[in-house]
Parts: sequence; structure tokens; C-alpha cells
Amino acid sequence: MTSTSTPTGKLAAVTGGASGIGLASVERLHADGHGVIIIDRSMDAHEVAARLSTPELPVVAKIADLSSAEDIARVTAEIDEEFGGVDILVNNAGIHPKKPDGGHFPIEDITLDQWNLVMDVNMTATFLLSQWAMKAMTQKGWGRIVNVASRAGRMYMPISGAHYAASKAAVISFTRYLAGDCGPFGVTANTVAPGRIKTPLSDVSGLGSSQNLHEEFAKSVPLRRVGRSDELAAAVSFLASEDSSFITGSVVDVNGGIFG
Ligand SMILES: NC(=O)c1ccc[n+]([C@@H]2O[C@H](COP(=O)([O-])OP(=O)(O)OC[C@H]3O[C@@H](n4cnc5c(N)ncnc54)[C@H](O)[C@@H]3O)[C@@H](O)[C@H]2O)c1
Repeated sequence: MTSTSTPTGKLAAVTGGASGIGLASVERLHADGHGVIIIDRSMDAHEVAARLSTPELPVVAKIADLSSAEDIARVTAEIDEEFGGVDILVNNAGIHPKKPDGGHFPIEDITLDQWNLVMDVNMTATFLLSQWAMKAMTQKGWGRIVNVASRAGRMYMPISGAHYAASKAAVISFTRYLAGDCGPFGVTANTVAPGRIKTPLSDVSGLGSSQNLHEEFAKSVPLRRVGRSDELAAAVSFLASEDSSFITGSVVDVNGGIFG
């Protein structure tokens, strides 16, 4: 799994690193030779850190609620004090409210509180953490920011509420501007747009088992299956590496070929 051309000795921060795609990204970046800070609201982050951490290559857990600007300010100040910023930032944490039956989430059913929470976690935290991380990165003249959006930010998907889709489209647009501002300083910023990936977030139980729903969905995917978290982590790893040095502002679709 370790790439010989990946720089080692870098420090990465991964939000939402206690579960799913974030967890796979933590494992992959660590295997690539990077120290990793997990930023998550879940205490599971401590277990992940304890399992992976080695004296040479630490994995540290920071508990924070990314819907809170105060919590983000606290955790970033801690990281600055302890580590002096990070070299790689993966803004992965996200929430995706769904209807209990897994069906269409109409705009008329979205409350203002739901709208604000989805924007705060999926978009505003990405903005605040990128704004923080780019300071140290641009000073050092090297950095990688990878933001996790969604296929829902690229096209109409009835199962995704408009709040989720709009937040993910905003992440894609924000990342282009981030790439513009960071580019002159040797810092890249890219988006990964996952299709359906088997994680707790995509577990739409409702009608029948989530496995059945995944199997049903897989019929519409050219590769005839849903994705795995490690397949997302591979894209994150590449965009965090030296190998992607001339790629910035791009969106990497990791979706098994489903674009409709
Ligand atoms: N799984 C999919 O099919 C899929 C598809 C498209 C996009 N995505 C995106 O991928 C990313 C990861 O999704 P996943 O499927 O791995 O989800 P997941 O639910 O398995 O993991 C999300 C992680 O984010 C953390 N988190 C959520 N809200 C938080 C908050 N307020 N503060 C701190 N941490 C918080 C959770 O504790 C959890 O560890 C999300 O941004 C999601 O929108 C997932």
C-alpha cells in the first residue's frame, strides 16, 4: 500500500476519521507514511488512534463538533500549539439527513435548522478548516487539501435532500477558489466526489435491508456494485501525494461510472 513516491514525514488531519471513508483515509495516509490527526465528534476516534499509532508515526484523536465554529477554533489552536499546523488536510466529515423510508426528501420538508446544520458541518467547517490549514501550508510552500463532496453535488439525485446536494456543490465550488488562492504557494486543493459507498452514512435501512437497497442500486452502476471506503481512500492518498503535484481545483469522481 505504501507508495515509494509519496513523501513521508508529513502530518495529515482527517475530519470524520472515526468512521467510513474518513477512517479508511486515516488508515491509508498512515500506511503511506504520514502522522495523522483525527478530528471527529465521536469518541471512537480514540480507539482508532490507539490501534494505529506507533512511536515513529503517531495517530492522534481530537474530539470536536464541526458544526460549532468555537469548537473548530479550539481544536485548530490546539493543533497549532502542539504541531504547528498540518501539511495535509482532508475535509471529509459530513452528514446526510434522509427520509426514514430512504425516499425523496422534498424541499418543502427541510426545516431551517436542518438546512443550517447540514451547511455548517458539510460546508462551513470545510471553509474554516481550509482557511486555517492554508496559512501554515502557504508559509511552508507545500500543502494538500482534499475535500470530500458527493455525486449529489454534481447532479440531481432525488434521495439526497437539496440541503445536502447544495452543501456538496458548494464544497466543489469553494475548492476551485481555494486552489486559485493556494496555487501560487505550492499548495493544491482538490475534491473527491464519491458515488454510493458502503458506510454507516449510506445505510438506508427503511424498506428492506440496506444490503438489498445497495444491491438494487448497484444494477444502475456500470461496475455493478457500490464502492468501498478504501477505494475512496486511494483517491485521497493520491491527491495528498507528490504524484498529484500538477492537479489542483479538480473533481475526482469515484462512483463506479454512474453519471446519470
Ligand atoms: N457513503 C457514501 O455513499 C457517500 C457518498 C457521497 C459522499 N459521501 C461523503 O463522504 C463523507 C464521509 O461519509 P461516510 O459515508 O464515511 O460517513 P460516516 O457516517 O461513516 O462517517 C462520518 C464521520 O463524520 C463524523 N461527523 C459527522 N458529523 C460531525 C460533526 N458535526 N463534527 C465532527 N465529526 C462529525 C462522524 O462522527 C463520522 O465519524 C461525507 O462527507 C459524505 O457526505 C459519502
